[in-house]
Formats: sequence, structure tokens, C-alpha cells
Amino acid sequence: MISKYDRKLQKVNHFAINACLAPVCAMHGLSVTTVEGIGSTKTKLHPVQERMAKAHGSQCGFCTPGIVMSMYTLLRNHPKPTMKDLEIAFQGNLCRCTGYRPIIEGYKTFTVDWEIMQNATALANGNGVACGMGDKCCKLQNGCKEYDKNEDEALFKPREFVPNDPTQEPIFPPELKLYDTLDKQNLVFKGKYVKWYRPTQLDELLELKQKHPDAKIVVGNTEIGVEVKFKHLEYPIRIQPTLVSEMTDVVLSEHGIKIGAALSLQNVEDFLREQISIQPKYKTRIFTATVQMLHWFAGRQIRNVAAIGGNVMTGSPISDLNQIFVASKTELELQSKRNGCRKVIMNANFFTGYRQNIVNKDEVLISITIPFTKENQYFYAYKQARRRDDDTAIVNSAVNVEFENHSDIIKSIHLAFGGMAPTTVTAPKTSKLLTGKPWNRETLDLAYKSIIEDLPLPPSAPGGMIQFRRALTLSFFFRAFLAISEELQRTLPEIKIEEKDLSAITGFLDKIPKSSQYFQVLPTQEKINTIGQPILHASAFKQATGEAVYCDDIPPMINELYMGFVLSAKAHANILSIDPSEALQMEGVHAFFSAKDLPEDRNKIGKTDDEVVFVAKTVTSQGQILGVVIADDQAKAQKAARTVKVTYEELQPFIISIDDAINHKSYFTGFNNPKVIEKGDVDKVFETAPHIVEGESRNGAQEHFYLETQCVLVVPKNEDDELEVFCSTQYPTSMSKLISHALNIPQNRVITKVKRIGGGFGGKEHRSAIVAIPAALAASRLKRPIRCMLDRDEDILMTGGRHPFYVKYKAAFNDDGRILGCETYLYNNGGYANDLSEFVMERAVFHFENTYKIPNVRVVGYVCKTNLPSNVAMRGFGAPQSMLASEFMVRRIAEYLNKDIVDVCRLNLYRDGDITHYNQKLEYCPIERCWDECMVSSNFYTRQKEVDKYNRENRWKKRGISIVPTKYGIGFSRIHLNQAGALIHIYTDGSVLLTHGGAEMGQGLHTKMLQIASTVLGIPISKIYISETSTDKVPNTSPTAASFSSDINGMAVMNACEIINQRLEPYKKVNPKGKWEEWISAAYFDRVSLSTTGFYKSPCSGYDWKTNSGDVYLYYTCGVACSEVEIDCLTGDHQVLRTDIVMDVGESMNPAIDVGQIEGAFMQGYGMYMLEELLYGPDGTIYTRGPGAYKLPGFNNIPLEFNVSFLKGAPNPRAVYSSKV
Ligand SMILES: Cc1cc2nc3c(=O)[nH]c(=O)nc-3n(C[C@H](O)[C@H](O)[C@H](O)COP(=O)(O)OP(=O)(O)OC[C@H]3O[C@@H](n4cnc5c(N)ncnc54)[C@H](O)[C@@H]3O)c2cc1C
Ligand code: FES
Repeated sequence: MISKYDRKLQKVNHFAINACLAPVCAMHGLSVTTVEGIGSTKTKLHPVQERMAKAHGSQCGFCTPGIVMSMYTLLRNHPKPTMKDLEIAFQGNLCRCTGYRPIIEGYKTFTVDWEIMQNATALANGNGVACGMGDKCCKLQNGCKEYDKNEDEALFKPREFVPNDPTQEPIFPPELKLYDTLDKQNLVFKGKYVKWYRPTQLDELLELKQKHPDAKIVVGNTEIGVEVKFKHLEYPIRIQPTLVSEMTDVVLSEHGIKIGAALSLQNVEDFLREQISIQPKYKTRIFTATVQMLHWFAGRQIRNVAAIGGNVMTGSPISDLNQIFVASKTELELQSKRNGCRKVIMNANFFTGYRQNIVNKDEVLISITIPFTKENQYFYAYKQARRRDDDTAIVNSAVNVEFENHSDIIKSIHLAFGGMAPTTVTAPKTSKLLTGKPWNRETLDLAYKSIIEDLPLPPSAPGGMIQFRRALTLSFFFRAFLAISEELQRTLPEIKIEEKDLSAITGFLDKIPKSSQYFQVLPTQEKINTIGQPILHASAFKQATGEAVYCDDIPPMINELYMGFVLSAKAHANILSIDPSEALQMEGVHAFFSAKDLPEDRNKIGKTDDEVVFVAKTVTSQGQILGVVIADDQAKAQKAARTVKVTYEELQPFIISIDDAINHKSYFTGFNNPKVIEKGDVDKVFETAPHIVEGESRNGAQEHFYLETQCVLVVPKNEDDELEVFCSTQYPTSMSKLISHALNIPQNRVITKVKRIGGGFGGKEHRSAIVAIPAALAASRLKRPIRCMLDRDEDILMTGGRHPFYVKYKAAFNDDGRILGCETYLYNNGGYANDLSEFVMERAVFHFENTYKIPNVRVVGYVCKTNLPSNVAMRGFGAPQSMLASEFMVRRIAEYLNKDIVDVCRLNLYRDGDITHYNQKLEYCPIERCWDECMVSSNFYTRQKEVDKYNRENRWKKRGISIVPTKYGIGFSRIHLNQAGALIHIYTDGSVLLTHGGAEMGQGLHTKMLQIASTVLGIPISKIYISETSTDKVPNTSPTAASFSSDINGMAVMNACEIINQRLEPYKKVNPKGKWEEWISAAYFDRVSLSTTGFYKSPCSGYDWKTNSGDVYLYYTCGVACSEVEIDCLTGDHQVLRTDIVMDVGESMNPAIDVGQIEGAFMQGYGMYMLEELLYGPDGTIYTRGPGAYKLPGFNNIPLEFNVSFLKGAPNPRAVYSSKV
């Protein structure tokens, strides 16, 4: 948060900003507050931090400080915000773990809306202050029911929150308020590479620009910052104009409002809003359209700093303001020292090419005048992006129409579009054609044809989606047509629009999000037993205060160096040469390592031939590692890495998609590929079955987008080859093993440690190795600590994601819709290395039938080898992709038979005791109960009728409701991985140090292990501490994956604690009323070991592919979700209105954590199916290498109503404390 004193208004303003885009020079004279500055676990938590933690809004915690600071800033500006304020404040924040619901629930308690609801609840309960309206009081109408919950069944108790007291906030530094010295300084900062000027007068600015015509004018740095970091552009002279009054003033004239070009978008919005509230409505139609557009422009953090002038001057073809300014013929004031002032109208001629315009190099944009509208003039602007909040437009448009007085005859019309060409463009032919025509359907038809001609888009246009973009231009015009017709019909009765059409111009529902969580807290007699209680994530407070230490937070070591990567730029090529000589001559560069530095048999990721550490001869994907540069710091290492010259000889073919792989028969070898399971007599069923359908399903790749990218710090011990590896990994044992293999040192010298990781989702199971091994090599050779944390673009390029799948199915069924047999072929895109692709395919093959019983099965899974980054484990591990196909299949069957989908699904559901196609008996697998409960809790049939009614009444918005079951096998299909260890030390003061084999990545694993240890030992959690996961404490661990870690590690922890209990038994007998510390002391003095290991192996028999027998999984967990969605038929946009989930988690060990996992997983699945898409070019280039292009679900994507309930009375005797997952 930055705070600034506004001397005109004598007010301190606070702004949440993106730290990574804030140049330190621009902070001069401002006060900067970070999450550490507002509260701490050592002193006092700020209520914003406390509520985040107590509402279970922090899982891995990597996003938490950012969200805390957005909320804190909001409260500093508005101590009683509304829910709308909250929504806007979080537009620029992302979380990959939580599903946002708990954050909203926790922070809702700061809002006026919540206070109103609280009062309503009190009124309803008869203990509030009644208003004159009695039971018709609006507070009572507005949802008091939601808050009338039994707090014992709630995940958190708002009444325990510390009240927010704005008077306790730190004061704004008085010296910044009292003296304007810092504001008035004409500054020059001189760095080695950049000179930063901050003039205070326009003359000085113009003189500087004349002297340095290539200088950049920096205001928000939201374009320049991105260009410097990611496009590696160098701008040696930068000028900050924010103190030049002509560029920040706002002046009202009779024509419109003149806005200084350096004014932030937020300030622009505030000024326009003020004018909208005081001017006659008709005059401010362009202002209204601009304000509405600004709501969808980036996030609040960007709008707080980005300037209106920066947007115009950047001239992006998808700028969200330029189409408004072009359509409205906004006036720009330009000035230069040489030619003085000139005014230009922003029209089609303003932009001369991609991000180019008519402004001379020595000119500065001083102001922008947005005109008032006339009474008979209308203005509308629209934008469609992949994600509504904080996303750049696919297409945007503005329509400016003036009518002849008191008529519907078009006097003039101007249209402008973004996203349809390399610049913002107009539709000149359409404007000419429509002028003089009446505003009616015939004119609309003419407009459609003409717009299509005005806006040709070649099939190869950058950005793709050609048909969709062209359709959007028409949809937007139609929307403007209806919106203007609606306004005109008030004065011109001959203009009529049908009620049904109105849905084209109404937005989606704008309701306060609601949620509920139903779970059972099991009664307990024991005071200590926390099993089943919604206790807090063990690190929640530390995460909310910024004290939690992630890998890159480890303070720099003496002598530490940084590692930068040289990556392959080709998808398939021979490497002719790699020349690091220029890099090695650069200041601060210490070494370059490549394949030459490892013997061939050590240059491997593990012992297989699947993947090498450094590619030496032939690259088979972009992003493969050719070498690493070791330098003093990140900037030097990355800059030097960019100078390493690599020459290639391109090879053919480029196999990118699954279709390419099928055409080239490009499948991995070295294992049974394809994976085949056959049960029953499929061929016979297809000969005799009454009905057969065929179909296919496809899904693209999904990026893990853990908020903490891959990170490692390797510290050489300089004795006996010892290495200490701090790594953000889900699989510490594997890191040690792979490093030990590459460096040819015993595994006992490589100790890998993980304190916590900022999200993994499968992406840090094996892929952490590609960063850890080169760092370990450099550390051992240079005998200096080596650090590396990937930038987001590197991470996306190097590490792969969820496998795309292509599935072809053929199903046989009877007249009722009962499935008799199925033949399914699955293909996944493994990328260049098999890695885990084989196992992902195994799970896909085991889950292809989802929850449906199919007696005769042939399922075949091919793992495709392509020239893409290696795709790896990701949450669900192949199951979500193949289960999708089975859902398509049952729906296809229902459609074919003209039956209700719900009936066909229900008919085919597995029953407890049924046998799967891989011959495992389903036990404790209550799919039918989950289904039936979800049908009831979602009120399915009633809502289905309401949906039908809505669809009959609305032409352009449609709703749909659907219910989907899932079943998921728990455990590793590789039998040896189903084991875990724990280590417990008890010290003489009674404190307990617990270690187990799992890594904490936000899923609350440590918290559950603490609950188990505390319950078994009978001591409070506060006496037990988990410091880290480390291979020197618990060896030979399995990856923290497969939804199995709390089961196996929990049993190992339980085993260790029971051993300790046995040892303490004699001392408890002697002193039954004694305290824990007394028993420990007695045992110690009696020379009893107070340290032990624990171990567990699951009783699974394992699966035999040859005989199709044996148990693959220890147990199953299942769940059913019902979602209702609204779709905008004009744009394809959608909103999830409500989701109800019934999940079987056995007897939940910690409902808060389990609800959080369910909600987070739902949102990740929603992202996978609805929003996220990794896009590749035909040459294997990934186009979506960061949050600008790859869209995760945001706060605004969660279902408006989100209900999660646990299936009651479904204990799981196969796992720790009868829980599941
Ligand atoms: C996360 C993120 C989200 C974004 N979302 C959107 C979005 O939804 N819609 C959208 O349209 N844009 C978006 N942008 C782009 C960007 O925020 C805007 O273009 C913004 O208005 C740029 O303003 P700035 O002050 O930050 O520009 P800066 O980066 O400071 O400058 C940008 C350029 O303009 C030139 N310039 C600036 N002012 C002047 C002047 N007065 N005279 C001459 N030249 C000048 C500079 O020299 C520089 O070349 C986004 C950017 C980011 C990082
Ligand atoms: S808790 Fe938000 S990203 Fe992990």
C-alpha cells in the first residue's frame, strides 16, 4: 500500500499497488506499508490478518499477504465498505488454493452489508432494535436467514473476531504531511543503466523530451515495467511527469472535461463519477460508458497507478479506452518545446500502425478532453474478455450515434473496435451507410453486413478465434441497438423492443455471494481430542502476517550466487553449437554449466533414459535446458543467459497435438504403451446390443499456476560432498535421489528440506528436479550456495502442465439406457518426456467409467510423445480428463433415447459392492447416497422447472442446470509408494518435535498430523511442533500426492505416538494424576528413549496388469455436484449461479480444511473446463506464459451461491480416524 497526502483536499489517500511494477524512484515522498507493517504474531495481529486466518482463507499462504493488503487498503480508505467495494478491491488478486469463498466470508464481516444482516438476524431473533416497518423491515427481507446459523456448526465464529478500530492505525508520516519539500523537488536519479528524471514544471519536461526524444514518460509503469521485465527492452532515460500540474489537472469546459494525461485511471473514474452525479444525464453518456468500462479495466491495483495518457500512447489494439476515445472523437493536447501546443482529434488516423501513432518523438501528451453528449446522442461501449475481471479484451467496441431532433433518423454514427486489427479501428463504410437511415431492424441488418465488410480478419490474424471475434462485433452492435432502442422508445412510441430481448442488455446477476457448509462435528468426551474439529491451519497466522518462510525467503547466504537458464528456443532441432563466451566475460558472471559438465550416464534425470539434465545434441521441445549461467544475482544471471549463442539445425516433424502424434504414430516406448484393460466380451455386446452410440471428448492442457514458482537453494557443506537442498518440492526424497545420481554421491550426503511450499498441485512432484539438479551441480562445483526461483514465464515454459486428452468412445446400451458395454480409446499428450505420463494414463484408464457400472469393457490408453514441454502430474492425475468422456457418454445415451439425463445417470450408478472393470470391489463407496442427497439439497427438479421458465422468457440469456457424480480411487497404483514414516522427539520440557514424510503445500497436512499426534498423545497441539519435512529425519518418503498423504503419514504419526505412549505407560500408572511433563521427566530419568520412528504401509495388494486383478486403491471417495449456469448467448460469457456439492470424506478429521480443499478443487476444475487454456503455436511456442494471457478463475468467478456438505454417517474403516483423503 502506498499513501499519499493530497495537499489540495488535505487528505491522505491510500492505494493498493503491484509491488513488482512500482519503480523505487517513484516512491519518493510517499509512505509505503507492507503486510509486515500492519501486525505480527509477536505483537498483535491486525483484524484483517486475524479474519483472513480464522476464516480459513489461507491455505498455502503465498497469495495471502497480497489479499490482506488489498483489504487493509480498502479499510484505510473506507472503514465501512460495501460488498461491492470488496469485489472491486480484489479484482487484481488471485488465489490458486482456496476457491475464494472463505476469504469473502471472512472479509464480509467488515462490510455494512454484513452489519445489516447481523441486525436483521438479531431482529428476527427478537433481540435486535426493531424499526418502524416491523417484520417488513428491509433488513429482515435481506437474508437474515443466512446468518441465523448455529455457530457451533460454523467453520469460524465472527463474534470472536477482534473489532476493527480505525483509530489504532499507524499515522501517516507527519513530515510528509507538514512539508511539501519532497513534492517540489526536481529530481534526477542516476543509476548504472537508467537515469530517472522527475521535473516539476512543464517547460522542464518538454526540454527533457527535446533533449532525449527516445526517453520514456513513466507514470504507472504498467506498460514499461512489463516491457523491461519480459521483453527485455532497455529504456535508459525515464521521465516521471506526475508533478507537472498541466498533466494532472482536471478542467471542466462547456465542451467536456479536460483530463491531465498523467492522471491515474482511478482518479479519472472518480472525477467522471462526480460529473455524472451533477450534470444532466444526457450530457454524460460518454462518461458513463467510460466509467463502466473502467470497472473491467485491469484490477484496482493497476488502475490506482496506470495513467489515462499511458493507455492512449501505448496504443494497444485491445486498449479498453481507445475505442471509446476514437468513437467519441476525443481531443488530445500535445506539446513540444520545438512546436508548442497542438490539438488533435482521436480518430482512425491517429494510430499509424501496431502501437504507433502520429505523436512526434519530442512531443508529450498533456491532456485528453472527453466531450459531453447532446440530448439526442447516445453512447455505448462493450468489452468481452476470457475472464470478466482483470483481463484484456478479446474484442471491445464503442458506438456513438446522434439522431435528428425528435426522430429516429441517424444524423451521424461512429463505431470503433479494438481487437480486430493491429490498431483500434473504425467502421467507415457502416457509418456512411447508416447515416440518414431510421433506427430499426432493416437498418440493423444493413449494419451487420457492412460491419463484417468493414472489419475483415484474416484466418492467420494474431490472437486466433477469428469467427468468434467477428461474431462479437455484431453482438456488440446488436446490444447497442437494443440499448439505444430502449432509450428511444421513451420518447418515440413507434420504437418497440420485445420484453424477451431485454436479456441482451442486462448484465449478469449482481448479488452478494452466499455459501453454506454442512458438516458434523463428532461429539467427544476427551478435552484434547481435536479430531473432527474445524481447527485453524497451523501456519495461518504466520501466512497472514507475511512471517511464513518460503524457500526464497531464506535470507541470502554469504557467497551466494544465482542461476539463470539457457533454454531451447526450438521444438525440434539439432544443436550445432552453444557459445557462452560473451556471457562469461560479463561482469558478475562466474560459470556456465552444460552437458559437457556431466558424464553421459549422469546427465540424466534419474536412472531412466527418459530425460536429461542438459540437452547436448537434439532438442525435442522449447524450454529444454541447454545450460545454466551462474552469476552474482538474478538480473546478471538472466541477462548473461540471454547472450549465450545457440545455433540449431531445425528438424522435422514438429509433433504438437495429439492428432499429430496419432498421424505419426508417435507414442512412448519402453513400457506397455498402450495400457489396455479388457473385461467381459465387448465384441459380442456390440453385436447384440439394441443401441450403440459413438462420440469423443477433448480437453486442453492446464497450467498448475502454483503462486510460488519452482524454487531452490542449494548450500554445499564443503565437507565430504554434503549438500543441503532447500527446495519447493512435493517430493524431497526424489530430489535427493536425483541429485545424488547426477553428482555421483551417496544419497546420505544430499539432504533435501521443505518447510512449506506455495502450492504444488502435482507440478512440484517431479519437475522441481529440473531446477534442483543444475543448482546442485553448480553448488558442488563452485562450492558456493546457489539460488534460483523461476520467473513465471520460465516456469510455464519449462515445467509442463496437465495432460491434454483426446478420448473416443463407443457405448452399447439397452432401451432403458443401461450401459452394456463400452470401448474407449484414450490418448494423452505427454510432451517430450514420459515422466509421469504413463501413470497419468493408468489412472485415466482406471477412471474412464467414472461412477458408472459397465460390465463389458475394452479401454485402451496411448501415451503420445510430442514436441511440447513434458506434461506431468496435476490434481486428479488424468482422472478428470477421462471422467469427462464418460459424462459425455451418458449424456449422449440419454439424448439418443430421448430420456432425462438424470435418470440415465442414476440408473447406471455403481452400487456398493459392485466390481470395477479392473476387478476391484467397491466398498464404502456410497455414490448413490451422494447423488440422492445432492438431488435433494440442490432442489434439482424445482430449479430445473425454473430454468425452463427462465429460458422461455429470455431470448439472449439462457440457464442450464446439471448434476455430475465423481468417484476417485485413493492410493498410489505403484504398490511400493504406499508407505510412510514419521519421527517423534520428546524433549525434557515436554515439548514434542514431530516430523513426517509429507510436504505442507497449503492442504493442511501438518495441521492434520498435529491433530493426530495431539489426540494420540493426549496433549494440546500447542506442545507439538512441526518444523519441516527433511530427508535426514524421515527417509525414503513417497511424494505428497495422490490424495493419500494424510492417510499414510497420519498412520505413521499415529504409530510413532502409540510407541511413545507404550513407553510412558508405566509412569502414567505410577502417577495417574500427573502431568505430561512429569511423565516425560520420569521416563527420561529412568533412561527411556523419548524418540522413535513410526511406519505405515497400506494393506493394498497392488494391481496386476497381466491378470487384471488385485487392488489398485485402498478405498474410494466420491462426491456429486450440481451447478446452475447462466450463459450470454451473444458473447458466450457465463456465470455460475449456484453450486451444491455433497462429498463423501468419511468422518472428516478437520472440516475447515476439507471444505477448503473441496472448494479449491472445484474452482481449479472450473478453471480447467471453463476458463484456462494453454495455447501453443504450430512450432511449439507457448503463447500463454503469464497471468496476462493465461487466466485463472478470480474472485468474481465463484458461484453466487456455493454450498458444500459432507455425506453424513459414512465412516471409512480403511483410513486414519475413519476419514477419507
Ligand atoms: C496487470 C495488467 C492489466 C492490464 N489490463 C489492462 C486492461 O484491462 N485494459 C487496457 O486497456 N490496458 C490494460 N493494461 C495496460 C496498461 O495498464 C495501460 O495501458 C495503462 O493505461 C498504461 O499506463 P501507465 O501509466 O502505466 O503507462 P506507462 O507504463 O507508465 O507508460 C506507457 C507508455 O506510454 C508513454 N506515455 C505515457 N504517458 C505519456 C505522455 N503523457 N505523453 C507521451 N507518452 C506517454 C510512455 O512513454 C510509455 O511508452 C494492463 C496492464 C497490466 C500490467
Ligand atoms: S492460499 Fe491462495 S494461492 Fe495458496
